[in-house]
Amino acid sequence: MKNSRPQNVILVGAQWGDEGKGKIIDLLARKSDYIVRYQGGNNAGHTVCFGNEKVILHLIPSGILHPKKICVIGNGVVIDLEALFQEIKMLSEHSISIQGRLFASDRAHIIFPYHRLIDQLREDAKGAKKIGTTKKGIGPCYADKVNRLGIRLIDLMNPRVFRERLKTVLAEKNLMLKRIFNHPPFSFDELFQTYSEYRNRIAPFVRNTSLLLDEAARKRKRILFEGAQGTLLDVDYGTYPYVTSSNASAGGALAGTGMSPARINEVIGVVKAYTTRVGEGPFPTEFPPRLMEHIRKRGEEYGATTGRPRRCGWFDALVARHSVLVNGLSKIVVMKLDVLDQLPALKICTAYRYQGKRYDDFPSDIEVLEKAEPVYEEHPGWQTPTSGIRKWQDLPPNARKYLKRLAALLKAPISIVSVGSERLQTIYIDGRYR
Ligand code: IMP
Repeated sequence: MKNSRPQNVILVGAQWGDEGKGKIIDLLARKSDYIVRYQGGNNAGHTVCFGNEKVILHLIPSGILHPKKICVIGNGVVIDLEALFQEIKMLSEHSISIQGRLFASDRAHIIFPYHRLIDQLREDAKGAKKIGTTKKGIGPCYADKVNRLGIRLIDLMNPRVFRERLKTVLAEKNLMLKRIFNHPPFSFDELFQTYSEYRNRIAPFVRNTSLLLDEAARKRKRILFEGAQGTLLDVDYGTYPYVTSSNASAGGALAGTGMSPARINEVIGVVKAYTTRVGEGPFPTEFPPRLMEHIRKRGEEYGATTGRPRRCGWFDALVARHSVLVNGLSKIVVMKLDVLDQLPALKICTAYRYQGKRYDDFPSDIEVLEKAEPVYEEHPGWQTPTSGIRKWQDLPPNARKYLKRLAALLKAPISIVSVGSERLQTIYIDGRYR
């Protein structure tokens, strides 16, 4: 395995999402046979260039843009059927054939309109304490799954099971809507009718995808597991409660697809050369307003799903090191180095300080995260454009020093550096990924 590309790879976001995974997945997908989503839902948004056009995929793995690749939506994903049908329609308008190339796990849970509504009503009721969710119904759907009140694709496939499940679940939802939110109920008949129609449309894609992937692995097909969001939004390892409701870290790829851990050869983490986050929650290295504006503009830092401006800040080594640890990252990909090109000096956060105590590792306590002072080291900027550079040795010395320092702090090698959104704007340090 030493000089060849590993067979089965998990790719995760190592910050708060939006690291630019879409471009790297697109690069790695070319050399993979199967591309698999394992968690999240249409809260994610991967922007990929399709010819001269930018296409945003929320649910379908972006590997679908490459002919002959098989794309799988695993059991750990929550599926909004309406959103999925829209994406399928968009792909067919671009003449991309998905027949026999797209499969959704029969065990995946369905996001219903009541999930979306409850997400929105809960957020509105929280006021200043809101999480800043995408309001796509992700949290309420996962909560139902864990509460054993969810409805899976396989349940929808069986009209008798579906009728029974929807009756039970809707009775509870309608009571909740009335008692807590004073909101009118959903009609069972209307929902039942609508989703019975959806049954026929989704049926050709529904499979036992664990079997499908097991067969692929036995045939030594290359499988790429694409994480959505990022490790710091993981429900277990993120800045709880300001997280999404799934395991965005590498562990999620196993539970979310049925793949054995013994079959995973490599876990790659994607970071931005700085940090961003969307929504509420602690962000110790957040920029002051002027710098925020500069980086947001240069980096086009607006959410792919909600269009919200992203919060931007300095690279936080505690965040990224935490990701190296919980994901077992063996390779790092650094995105958007070029966004930092004009800065005269750069800071890297190497520790936090709170109430006289120094934290070298990412803390779990939300109060520490909200109030900690970052400890920075300062590095000179390179103030030279890097977006045209294709080789490591051609990077300005200060850019190389900055990247070397990141790798040393993370104790993981950097394999790829991205200096622009185009496929060619990529510096391969590890030639196996070229
Ligand atoms: P939810 O996933 O819609 O429940 O939102 C929970 C938190 O995760 C919010 O802070 C969202 O902004 C954030 N979030 C969800 N999906 C993404 C993503 O794809 N990129 C970045 N942040 C996300």
